[in-house]
Amino acid sequence: MRRASLQTVAGKASARLHGARGAGPAPRSLGPLGAWLALACALGLGLLSPQAAQAQSAAQIKAGQDKARSCAVCHGQLGISSVPNAPNLAGQPAMYLVEQLKAYRSGKRPNEIMSVIARPLTDDDIADLSAWYSAIRLEATAPN
Ligand code: HEC
Repeated sequence: MRRASLQTVAGKASARLHGARGAGPAPRSLGPLGAWLALACALGLGLLSPQAAQAQSAAQIKAGQDKARSCAVCHGQLGISSVPNAPNLAGQPAMYLVEQLKAYRSGKRPNEIMSVIARPLTDDDIADLSAWYSAIRLEATAPN
């Protein structure tokens, strides 16, 4: 009985699909306006997305993930901190992370822990680590 009614639903759904396909070339009706909209979106994304400006390569992100193993004790596996005094790194702009790590390394931003950790890092290490953390996607939810 149950199976039969499911089949009916599936049958109706596929009928609807076929109907929709027969309804004509809907996407084409946008015409030149559609093309302009697509162009505007592409331009907007290119100009507004900080990620596009500093596109991190997949290889850099992967290398960063490997190098970040030693950071996970405090900053968490995915950059969400596991200790209360360490900040989250996930989703931070790569440019910001690079700047902070270089500041710890040079002593410009003094911190007992991070100065020691950043000292041996090369510019490549810093770029890879920053690529990894900035590539992690977060979803923000407003408080209730
Ligand atoms: C023992 C714990 C610990 C480890 C391990 C650790 N960190 Fe940190 N990290 C901290 C703390 C604590 C701070 C906050 C320091 C401050 O107040 O400046 C921090 C701050 C940072 C910041 C600055 C973030 C911001 O919002 O300004 C970056 C970037 C960072 N850590 C990267 C790393 C990376 C990359 C590694 C691994 C190579 C690492 N950390 C390993 C504890 C740690």
